[in-house]
Amino acid sequence: MSEVDYTALIPNNVDLASDAQLKRALEAWYPKYIDWWKSKGPVGFQDSEVYLRTAVGVDAEGWAKFGYVKMPEYRWGILLAPQEAGRTIAFGQHKGEPVWQDVPGEYRAMLRRLVVIQGDTEPASVEQQRFLGQTAPSLYDMRNLFQVNVEEGRHLWAMVYLLQKYFGRDGREEAEDLLKRTSGDADKPRILGAFNEATPDWLSFFMFTTFTDRDGKMQLESLASSGFDPLARTTRFMLTEEGHHMFVGRTGVERVIQQTCEVMTENGITDPTDKEAVRKHGAIDLATMQKKINFHYSVTLDLFGAEISTNAANSFNAGLKGRFREVRIDDDHQLENDTYPVARVVDGEVQIVDTPALSAINARLCDDYMDDCEKVMKRWNRVLQTHGLDYSLSLPHRAFRRAVGEFSDVYATVAGEIVSETEWHERKDEWLASDADLEYILSLMQSETSPGKYASWIAAPRAGINGQPGDFEYVKLAA
Ligand SMILES: [Fe+2]
Ligand SMILES: [Fe+2]
Repeated sequence: MSEVDYTALIPNNVDLASDAQLKRALEAWYPKYIDWWKSKGPVGFQDSEVYLRTAVGVDAEGWAKFGYVKMPEYRWGILLAPQEAGRTIAFGQHKGEPVWQDVPGEYRAMLRRLVVIQGDTEPASVEQQRFLGQTAPSLYDMRNLFQVNVEEGRHLWAMVYLLQKYFGRDGREEAEDLLKRTSGDADKPRILGAFNEATPDWLSFFMFTTFTDRDGKMQLESLASSGFDPLARTTRFMLTEEGHHMFVGRTGVERVIQQTCEVMTENGITDPTDKEAVRKHGAIDLATMQKKINFHYSVTLDLFGAEISTNAANSFNAGLKGRFREVRIDDDHQLENDTYPVARVVDGEVQIVDTPALSAINARLCDDYMDDCEKVMKRWNRVLQTHGLDYSLSLPHRAFRRAVGEFSDVYATVAGEIVSETEWHERKDEWLASDADLEYILSLMQSETSPGKYASWIAAPRAGINGQPGDFEYVKLAA
């Protein structure tokens, strides 16, 4: 079935009504989720009417409807893409066998771990972004933030559904724990590093949704071909929502660049490194934006895990997690005799080494991610070109500032040159925003809540959400 039942407490297209035990488990989890949302979700605005989209179906067209809703009353639901008749496992040692509708016993622990790790990132980002509503540069942006937040909440529901339906008692315990860990908490942090970093300002938010939500896309794309069919169907629908999160990030940064370019042209500023000249007009200089890119990109690369990984080989072999868009790749999908070129540190410099393809699954996913990020850079640089500026933004080298994998033991510049620890620390302000830069960005974070108005550092979007006009009241602030 693909119709969504919105009469139920928990909207779903998985016929929850006919599974009394699961329904009870999810209904028991629901109030805990709401407590979490209210205590660790957006600060303020819980009584405001927000113009949000809610999924009403899982078809490619017309799957969402827009309307005003108070966030705690959002209809978080369980939505799976439709089951494909006769689907078979597309990769690994079980290639060609029918997909699993239940958890295969031998892979239970591996599969639970994949679901828990994915699940943990969803509430984490909501926690990281919880204060941003108070400094939104416009109602349009505030609405986009809240849209991303409620959908990350729904993604948590998606993973909790899998845990509670397929993993019995330990699944229920994992579902509880997902609400107990907190981003940045000293005692019970979120599982992955990038999800414990602060998101203190809107430039960070746009960078996060550009780079870190894009890691989310890569992970979901590789789970979407999973041999465990319920996971594949869940992640396929999550990808539909993920597109908007990356749109918010990519166009957010683009609008900041646009504003900076306009300030530079209007005021005859020709030196892109003259940050004071740009800052005088309340915009963000390009050099500082490059430094934010360096930070968010490098922190996100760590999310892909070690380039050479037995875990990744095992979950590929088992048919649980494939590569990026696995079914579109033209090879045998088993990789037992293949190699893959992996960047590694050899004799103090970065070299490409042919490595057994199975152990290089993470390296390949990371490469696909980098290609995707390069496309974003092209779009951002187009704005600079349109304004005739002789400057371009770029991704730092993969070896820069890494805490996980091949490059975690070396100090590398943004160009990928390996230097001494001392030199790296001496030069790090060339590559990363200084405290003063970050303070400047924070000083710009004043909320702008008149419909159609934008803060000094960001341009208006090219079009409204769902075709709404420029002065549309995306959030009706509670009195
Ligand atoms: Fe998500
Ligand atoms: Fe997302």
